[in-house]
Amino acid sequence: MPSALITGANRGIGLAFARSFAADGWRVYGCCRQPDKARELKDLAGQVTVHRLDVTDGLQVAGLARELAGQPVDILLNNAGIYGSRTGFGETEFDVWPQVFQVNVMAPLRLAERFVEQVTQSERKLIVNISSRMGSIGENSSGGGYVYRSSKAALNMVAKSLSIDLAGRGITVLTFHPGWVQTDMGGPNAAVTAGESVAGMRAVIERLTSADNGRFFTHDGGEIPW
Ligand SMILES: NC(=O)c1ccc[n+]([C@@H]2O[C@H](COP(=O)([O-])OP(=O)(O)OC[C@H]3O[C@@H](n4cnc5c(N)ncnc54)[C@H](OP(=O)(O)O)[C@@H]3O)[C@@H](O)[C@H]2O)c1
Repeated sequence: MPSALITGANRGIGLAFARSFAADGWRVYGCCRQPDKARELKDLAGQVTVHRLDVTDGLQVAGLARELAGQPVDILLNNAGIYGSRTGFGETEFDVWPQVFQVNVMAPLRLAERFVEQVTQSERKLIVNISSRMGSIGENSSGGGYVYRSSKAALNMVAKSLSIDLAGRGITVLTFHPGWVQTDMGGPNAAVTAGESVAGMRAVIERLTSADNGRFFTHDGGEIPW
């Protein structure tokens, strides 16, 4: 049975990933900050275990990696993310910026470093990072979004380096823009549901080859310039 470790699995896109994998019989390690409040995650049918994980807490990450030592992780899914400040030029809330980098950039690398053995031991050997097209420098034609955009651009660079550094272990690293998704972050007017976004990303994952290592896809399989 393949397995997925998902950060931010209690709501939004992370919960939709957990639901989708669990429904297909995968072993799901559902990680969230407050398991006590993660009712929808805990109520999922299937091989789902819920783990306390604030991705910015190095001790918790290390502890979970020790707890899962020897358990193959087919897909390490770096999903947890925050937007931070929505203010424009001249109103930047500089104090929230470090926290956004902790969650969106540093945590995915920390997770990759701590879980590389479990991924290497698996069949599929995948690290998937949920980024955003807001992090694409090539596509930025509207400006603004300094805090979030810069964090996702930095995540993209982390993912690219991981794809090079871990290729020798047979690990494939993918980066996704999940679409504009109806979640707390995306809002109710977003273009797709979390279920639709996840179905698309899973379809891309199912047909990928080693030539896709280090690439940046949309949920419907299009490619985004860095
Ligand atoms: N929705 C969109 O339109 C959209 C578009 C592009 C990219 N994305 C990306 O997709 C990913 C998922 O977003 P979403 O739309 O599902 O957002 P969401 O509904 O706001 O959910 C965010 C998730 O991240 C978790 N999280 C935040 N900080 C955390 C921390 N320190 N440790 C562990 N978990 C933490 C949250 O947990 P709590 O419940 O504990 O806060 C929650 O589970 C993010 O990386 C986001 O940037 C979303």
